[in-house]
Amino acid sequence: MRILVLGARGRLASALARAWSASHDTVCMGRPQLDVADIPALRRLLEAHRFDLLVNGTGLTNVDACESRRDEARTVNALAPAAMAAAARTQGARLIHFGTDYVFDGEKREPYTEGDPARPLGWYGRTKLDGELAVLADSPAHLVVRVSWVFGPDKPAFPDQMIARARAGTDVAAISDKFSSPTHAPDVAVWLAPFFDPRLPGGLFHACNSGSCSWREYGEWALACAARRGIPLATTSVRPQLLADMKSFTARRPVHSILSTDKLARTTGISPRPWRDALEEYITNAPIPPAA
Ligand SMILES: NC(=O)c1ccc[n+]([C@@H]2O[C@H](COP(=O)([O-])OP(=O)(O)OC[C@H]3O[C@@H](n4cnc5c(N)ncnc54)[C@H](OP(=O)(O)O)[C@@H]3O)[C@@H](O)[C@H]2O)c1
Repeated sequence: MRILVLGARGRLASALARAWSASHDTVCMGRPQLDVADIPALRRLLEAHRFDLLVNGTGLTNVDACESRRDEARTVNALAPAAMAAAARTQGARLIHFGTDYVFDGEKREPYTEGDPARPLGWYGRTKLDGELAVLADSPAHLVVRVSWVFGPDKPAFPDQMIARARAGTDVAAISDKFSSPTHAPDVAVWLAPFFDPRLPGGLFHACNSGSCSWREYGEWALACAARRGIPLATTSVRPQLLADMKSFTARRPVHSILSTDKLARTTGISPRPWRDALEEYITNAPIPPAA
């Protein structure tokens, strides 16, 4: 299997590339090799490489930045994936592209399924939805995988920030009235490996660890795991904040965007493990950075 990974320095793509390169011929490209916002250059690069699987780990993922950098967000999150989908189809290859829980408005109180209508609240979700639709329309072989609250060993994420603040003795606070499901990046590599088989249909899938939590619960579990590991912390509690009080947020965010992974389990036979187990394993094994 020849795999080409774009955006290879990202949190998710790094984990996939590491896991899959062990048994597949994997070529990784990050921004120094390719700016995917340059669509003609992207097309030329994809024409020059032969691959069986193209993985798009790129994205303008800063939700607030997407509100002010609208053209760039549209190009990176929607137009570039459309060009990738066409280039992959031309080679008879599958594209794996990543979507987000932010395509939903967060009004539903049950986990969102792939069949639920998408109603993004902000420009990030809007452009990500347009990218999804373009990829899915291009070929039934392509895969769009919606993930949420990604963490993993390759790039600090929310749990790492919570631990860093608790180590430094600075105020540790997180939103207590917004809910989703954390996603362990290395687990995604396991869940998606069955799709290397071209007989498995493509389409839209939700993929996150099981269970759900608020940002505050996510942070408190990270601190509990860090304390159990013996990392000295000034506190193991997280001060609650309300989403409505976050004046620095320019983009509206869904309040309740828990993803159902039933379709993934039906298709692959794999049921994601609980997010608490995945986060505990990550924190137990992660190298401890020097104290700030
Ligand atoms: N992180 C989450 O919680 C989350 C939640 C839902 C969905 N997702 C989706 O999952 C995917 C991967 O996210 P992630 O967490 O791995 O994000 P990430 O760590 O921010 O990775 C995104 C990568 O895209 C690269 N990139 C951005 N613009 C680019 C451009 N014009 N040309 C080339 N590369 C460019 C970034 O490079 P630079 O570092 O150089 O900017 C970065 O390496 C994205 O599609 C995202 O929308 C993520």
